[in-house]
Amino acid sequence: MESAKIRKVFFDFFASKGHEIVASAPMVVKDDPTLMFTNAGMNQFKDLFLGNSVVKDPRVANSQKCLRVSGKHNDLEEVGVDTYHHTMFEMLGNWSFGDYFKKEAIEWAWELLTEHYKLEKDRLYITYFEGDKEDGLPADEEAVSYWKPLIDEDRIIACDKKDNFWEMGETGPCGPCSEIHIDIRSDADRAVTPGKELVNQDHPQVIEIWNLVFMEFNRMADRSLMPLPNKHIDTGMGLERLAMALQDKTSNYDTDVFQYYINEIEKKSSKKYQQSDSKQDVAMRVISDHLRAVSFSIADGQLPSNSGAGYVIRRILRRAIRYAFSFLDIKEAFIYELSAKLVEHMGEFFPELEKNKDLIAKVIKEEEEGFLRTLDKGIQRLEELFANSGDTLDGKSAFELYDTYGFPIDLTALIASERGVSIDEQPLILSFRSKRNAHVPLER
Ligand code: SER
Repeated sequence: MESAKIRKVFFDFFASKGHEIVASAPMVVKDDPTLMFTNAGMNQFKDLFLGNSVVKDPRVANSQKCLRVSGKHNDLEEVGVDTYHHTMFEMLGNWSFGDYFKKEAIEWAWELLTEHYKLEKDRLYITYFEGDKEDGLPADEEAVSYWKPLIDEDRIIACDKKDNFWEMGETGPCGPCSEIHIDIRSDADRAVTPGKELVNQDHPQVIEIWNLVFMEFNRMADRSLMPLPNKHIDTGMGLERLAMALQDKTSNYDTDVFQYYINEIEKKSSKKYQQSDSKQDVAMRVISDHLRAVSFSIADGQLPSNSGAGYVIRRILRRAIRYAFSFLDIKEAFIYELSAKLVEHMGEFFPELEKNKDLIAKVIKEEEEGFLRTLDKGIQRLEELFANSGDTLDGKSAFELYDTYGFPIDLTALIASERGVSIDEQPLILSFRSKRNAHVPLER
């Protein structure tokens, strides 16, 4: 089932259960000082949970554009290296604002997954909140009582607060949650190690697909929990992960969501994507992921810049450019061309892409050209340094290259190691320390 159909099945199902289908909020947040980017579907509904605004539709569903690159939910370091983390991802969600609660949320999630998406029941596992002494909360036996008629009891697993108590941030709406995990390993692997032992163990093929949060509390600045005026449902299902399961793939990047761009990158680089963890494959994953994050940000009004949210976007785009430069040997601007493919693939569902397609391409192209010039100059300077440095490069020079030319330290390290030159790290570390307030390097 292609990603567009996956969305449609989700919306049709929740519309049939009385939900209003609403648009995604912008991915860039302008009116909440605690947040730069939308990192969960519930962000736009925070005030409804807290009782600060009036509920118009007590049941809604949508697909929310999320970006997790800063703050509490931060996956940036994993992106492209493994096969299932992303900067930007779509979160399919259904909400109840003081309307239905645990029973319906659980039963409908199960019905949708097993009867409409037709996932095999014996690949699914459920987790629930085991309680927490510090917060004075009991185990969520109520959730268990609704799961028991649906799934074998030995597939229901108690987990602690880290995994099964969802919080928006340091403060704000929160509550116990119940997650649905899927085991997409081969039958042979499943026969050797039961999936149950791999749930929440960072296994790339035993992964969480849907989180059902039972919002009941507001976490206060003093860490205490205040009951919310009403009880609510907030669910979030990763579209890309669901696509992996439904398209019989073992990597999100092998689904239509990313293959569309990876095919183009293959053509451009004349290299084949091998689905391995070689740097070349990581680069293709990084570019196909980052293209989405950057394009959607620009469509939502956040351009790359030197500070705040704009700097986050610049870092993401530069990371993609650098991977293309270093590992795919692409030395000219090309990511902006891929943005046209993104508009083609997702523009129907997200009209902001179509509306801003020229701006997106223009901004990415300028950014690519500027950074490629930086890389070019840096490499020339590095050659001069190598010519005078024997087999050890002074760390202070590597720092100056970064500080003056904006040349990424890790690229210096990579080129140096290719030449068999080592970097004297002590002066490099000292230079960074003495410039504490400098921007964080693009890659550490
Ligand atoms: N807020 C929960 C999450 O982000 C469920 O939507 O996982």
